Amino acid sequence: MPDNAPVILAVDGPPGAGKTSLLARIAPAYGDACTFFTEPNARLAGPQPAPENGSSAGLSRWFLRHEQTRAGQVAALSRDPLTRLILCDRNHLGVLAFCHAATAGDALPYDQALACYQQDIAPNLPAELKTVILLVSPDVSLERRGGAAERPRWQPWFSRDLPVLDAAVRLLDEGHFPVRVADIAAATGLDVGAVDRALDARDAFKNGGGAAAAGGWYVPADVPTLFREREWVENGGAVWTADCPPMLAEVIEAFTACRVIDHIAGFMGERPALSIGKSTLRRVPTTLLDTDWHQDGAFLGADVRAMNVWLALSPCGADAPGLEIVGARLPYVVQTGSHGANFNWSVGPGLVDILGQGGAKLESPEFAPGDALLFDHLMLHRTGLRPGMTRPRWAIESWFFSPTHYPAEQVPLMV
Ligand SMILES: [Fe+2]
Repeated sequence: MPDNAPVILAVDGPPGAGKTSLLARIAPAYGDACTFFTEPNARLAGPQPAPENGSSAGLSRWFLRHEQTRAGQVAALSRDPLTRLILCDRNHLGVLAFCHAATAGDALPYDQALACYQQDIAPNLPAELKTVILLVSPDVSLERRGGAAERPRWQPWFSRDLPVLDAAVRLLDEGHFPVRVADIAAATGLDVGAVDRALDARDAFKNGGGAAAAGGWYVPADVPTLFREREWVENGGAVWTADCPPMLAEVIEAFTACRVIDHIAGFMGERPALSIGKSTLRRVPTTLLDTDWHQDGAFLGADVRAMNVWLALSPCGADAPGLEIVGARLPYVVQTGSHGANFNWSVGPGLVDILGQGGAKLESPEFAPGDALLFDHLMLHRTGLRPGMTRPRWAIESWFFSPTHYPAEQVPLMV
């Protein structure tokens, strides 16, 4: 090992602490003298095979194997005279913290994880290599996140003997959010009961009852090219508006009556087409996982011309999942699959933090039934789900496209 061996700088701490944002600023300052290891992400497995099963123990073992591989890479880098700094977005501390925090019945016992680290990982790290660890404490991180873990699945990181978390949960429990009731159903025929009826009809149809059991409220449109998309939508607790003829008629009628289609036509300069593949009736539970930030342009194509009419049918944004948006005009599809993203099409929270530092405001509007938000394919957004939310949210999402810039695979309906 050279006398002037590089230094490892590992940044660790709970999710959302700002680790990636900090590292993203350090790495460019050191340029080629620095090697940057991103945060391990089992869903974007890379060279390491993904966990064989979805259990907490399987995930812990995956993290440990990943750490073992990285220890070998770090050892090799320590002999490279050009490398001065090895940056790690989390290191073994984060892996052990995950094992420590995982409390599910299928979790890997912490003692086993520690023994694995001591036997298989630590011996691979050159003893002379200096490691500096910046550890953001859970309470500081919670304070930065506004007093609560931002996502339900992050809660375990904050929940071990931390009075500050208890205080945050109490605050959410005691908080009373007024529920506004609007009579949108009477005006349009679009209401939570109608969405439930469509979802029930879908279940009845699929559970063997077929068309007779669905009573005309689930009539799958004949679009074989979108077979996988339909499955994705339905597995997420939604149903295509186009698969429910009574609701499709109501949506078109309501949007025509309030002239929203005319406004979109004015914006696009041509009469828009409604997308079959992107227009859905949704009931979103508070147990939803993986509500990642995204721009729909990431999978529709950046060159489409699109407008989504996102219509709330129930109060949401306070005690039911709403919609979080990055309040800034982004003229392009930003980087996906990085900064802690769960999918190759989604935007990591670390990148949203960086946009926030650049001045973009994060907004979480509260919606009353009948409130709608119109946005295009470049708006960065996600389902706004926070701990303490107790009610599901009903909404209708309707994507309109300019026919001359239509992503053909989404199948247009002229309206
Ligand atoms: Fe979206």
